[in-house]
Amino acid sequence: MRKEFETTSPEQTEELGRKIGKRLKPGDVLSLDGDLGAGKTVITRGICAGMGLDPSDVQSPTFTIVNEYEGEVPLFHFDTYRLSGEDDFLASGLDEYFYRGGVCVIEWGSVIDGLLPEDTVRIGIFGSGSERKIVIESKEEIV
Ligand SMILES: Nc1ncnc2c1ncn2[C@@H]1O[C@H](COP(=O)(O)OP(=O)(O)O)[C@@H](O)[C@H]1O
Ligand SMILES: [Mg+2]
Repeated sequence: MRKEFETTSPEQTEELGRKIGKRLKPGDVLSLDGDLGAGKTVITRGICAGMGLDPSDVQSPTFTIVNEYEGEVPLFHFDTYRLSGEDDFLASGLDEYFYRGGVCVIEWGSVIDGLLPEDTVRIGIFGSGSERKIVIESKEEIV
């Protein structure tokens, strides 16, 4: 299914993330795409909060590639911007995170599109200024 949302502030985008985060289950994978500054990290902060985890230090893991937030269901937050592609992801063993019983949120997920599990939720964020269109494609309703 495909759903579209419009937001006019970072707070609204974060709130959408919070709603999504409340419904996620272990093993869920979300792929986020959109230009630099689109709001991928903002929505991830909301997802983190919605999962009942502390969102206060959620930032793009641009250099570390993945950050882990521990909890009953952990959140693994990726930023694949600096990876050259799928081979790079596999060579670093990062695909193991898909099977660790947490939720994986992947900024720039299209970089590793061919490796994403079949049920991956794809979120695209478009827009400029303070307006964003957020398109969510998922097998099951998640928000
Ligand atoms: N409606 C909106 N939704 C999300 N972010 C917004 C919105 N309007 C303005 N912004 C700003 O856009 C930026 C998004 O940054 P960030 O989430 O780090 O982007 P990305 O991770 O996609 O590079 C922030 O500075 C945020 O304040
Ligand atoms: Mg980011």
